Amino acid sequence: MAELRGALIGCGFFAINQMHAWRDVQGARIVAICDRDPERLKLVGDQFGMERRYADAAAMFADGGFDFVDIATTVASHRALVEMAASYKIPAICQKPFATTLSDAKAMVAACAEAGVPLMVHENFRWQTPIQAVKAALQSGAIGEPFWGRFSFRSGYDVFSGQPYLAEGERFIIEDLGIHTLDIARFILGDVASLTARTKRVNPKIKGEDVATILLDHENGATSIVDVSYASKLATEPFPETLIELDGTKGSIRLSQGYRLEVNGPDGATVSDASPQLLSWASRPWHNIQESVLAIQQHWTDRLADGGETSTSGADNLKTFALVEAAYESAASRRVVDIGATLK
Ligand SMILES: NC(=O)c1ccc[n+]([C@@H]2O[C@H](COP(=O)([O-])OP(=O)(O)OC[C@H]3O[C@@H](n4cnc5c(N)ncnc54)[C@H](O)[C@@H]3O)[C@@H](O)[C@H]2O)c1
Repeated sequence: MAELRGALIGCGFFAINQMHAWRDVQGARIVAICDRDPERLKLVGDQFGMERRYADAAAMFADGGFDFVDIATTVASHRALVEMAASYKIPAICQKPFATTLSDAKAMVAACAEAGVPLMVHENFRWQTPIQAVKAALQSGAIGEPFWGRFSFRSGYDVFSGQPYLAEGERFIIEDLGIHTLDIARFILGDVASLTARTKRVNPKIKGEDVATILLDHENGATSIVDVSYASKLATEPFPETLIELDGTKGSIRLSQGYRLEVNGPDGATVSDASPQLLSWASRPWHNIQESVLAIQQHWTDRLADGGETSTSGADNLKTFALVEAAYESAASRRVVDIGATLK
């Protein structure tokens, strides 16, 4: 089958990882890039030897010559760009957060469904090697039926120097990072019926919340906690590791700092190393995330080639996005929020 040709919009901080990963993906390559900032367009264009460069996405779509678009801009532009892709019947990948509101996200899913084109949210955290290893251990049946979980991301890492916009929004950690952790909770323990959340802002220099604790009631009866913090000063900085605890009817799983995976079943405990690879273009401590970018982009390419549904399709991601909306609602009202009602 011919190699798929992609176009990337948004040549910012994170798109560098996506461009590197596209060079490693089997079956696809990037043929055009777009950014409204001429400096970013030149920097990424020169670094990756791109000839076709556009300041305006509409002009790039009008010229065509690509099979899919990878939207790597910040959230404000996502709806317009996804709808533009749908109007040209071009399959689209959209970075997280999917949209600014759940109703926008629903409209984007509907636009792509009507156009008959696939839409995937670049929700890469579930593609991390350690997260996949936890899922495989659970699916092996080693711990029986899971009844409790904890998905934890606590850090003091300075994310604001690379992504200054994170300090400026009314919403911060749930929308930016908790969205990944909530998606991991869904990936591991299934969909969520209701939740309760509490938030705090500890860092006085930012606008939004930097600590959140969320209690999830999963549809299968399991209970879990998603706790995220960018205000935690730890002896060994764990960024960007998600730590997981799962208790099941026959045993337990612990993914602890340093990518140590312990699975304790009826026959005893096994300990393994669930470290990600350090890809040639990756750098610590981001290598865990960088490897997952390659994995999700390879997944997209394979599904586009065989016509299958992606793991984090737009429709799937509405259920993660609803948890973000519900967490903010619960933190404000201090009430339990029903996810079915949020999704309606
Ligand atoms: N999945 C992950 O692990 C991960 C990690 C970091 C960031 N992100 C996400 O990636 C997205 C981008 O983040 P970033 O830190 O790279 O932001 P950034 O501000 O560094 O880059 C965004 C780029 O998009 C360009 N842009 C914005 N609107 C545009 C438009 N309409 N047309 C053309 N260009 C446009 C900007 O000029 C900028 O160069 C965000 O949504 C962020 O949440 C994801």
